[in-house]
Amino acid sequence: MKIGFIGGGTMGEAMIKSLLAKGAARPADVTVSDVSKARRDILQKKYRIKAVSDNKEAVKGAEVVILAVKPQELGKVLGEMKGLSPQQLVLSIVAGATLDGLREGLGHSCLVRAMPNMPAQIGEGITVWTTTAEVNQKQKDMAQSILDALGKEIYVSGEKYIDMATALSGSGPAYVFLIIEALVDAGVHIGLPRDMAEKLVVQTVLGSTRAVEAMGKHPAELRNMVTSPGGTTTEGLLQLETGGLRSLLLKAVIAAYNKAKALGAK
Ligand SMILES: NC(=O)c1ccc[n+]([C@@H]2O[C@H](COP(=O)([O-])OP(=O)(O)OC[C@H]3O[C@@H](n4cnc5c(N)ncnc54)[C@H](OP(=O)(O)O)[C@@H]3O)[C@@H](O)[C@H]2O)c1
Repeated sequence: MKIGFIGGGTMGEAMIKSLLAKGAARPADVTVSDVSKARRDILQKKYRIKAVSDNKEAVKGAEVVILAVKPQELGKVLGEMKGLSPQQLVLSIVAGATLDGLREGLGHSCLVRAMPNMPAQIGEGITVWTTTAEVNQKQKDMAQSILDALGKEIYVSGEKYIDMATALSGSGPAYVFLIIEALVDAGVHIGLPRDMAEKLVVQTVLGSTRAVEAMGKHPAELRNMVTSPGGTTTEGLLQLETGGLRSLLLKAVIAAYNKAKALGAK
């Protein structure tokens, strides 16, 4: 499958890396265009793919064109890409860029809108995606195999779920990183060496996540299993509940969702 990337930054590179690592594409089938010469040189050297400065060149002959530029660059890029052939599939990961906006900007209807997240960089991401009605089954399969390389993927028929996923899984890694950072600092505060605190926190988050996945129990049930009457955990939980952790997370997701919707409405 011939793939052209517009934008070879953090996410573009994550996708290229995962696609090549999982054998979903060969280096000879991938072209990336990027305004930065430094980025082009790095990508060409690291992955042996073709890196160009002209977006039109990356699009030429591509079965799938992946849009991976920042939202503020999108208008300019779409203008440069006009004149795609109807069977070329355009897959956008640009936050807030709606299918209608892409259709209008490109004058093209064969579109996928996807929201991956940052752990895609290590093949552990999750992507929520949808398509326009013009995308056929073969193209859906191609999109799925690209997104599969990034980790897990969920297809939705309603575009409204993309903004919701942006707020939860798109922004989610930042929330989790903040929690990890704060827990490590707390460990240091009570006297643990920093490297030991880091090890303890990372494995605790990882192990707890795997337990939720493997044990098939509600998180509250798992929490009850580690909360003995009158014990240490219940003291800690009292502080988290009193401080409003639950409603704070709710507010964070609602705020991110409102922002995602506002970006899409622009
Ligand atoms: N990062 C995430 O976790 C994440 C998650 C989901 C979705 N996304 C979406 O993914 C998109 C890319 O994000 P990112 O973090 O990968 O951004 P990024 O690192 O800034 O990558 C964008 C790349 O595109 C290049 N570029 C800028 N203008 C261009 C143009 N006109 N033609 C070709 N290339 C151009 C940039 O070069 P310069 O740096 O020289 O400008 C940069 O190398 C964003 O729209 C974002 O909403 C990101």
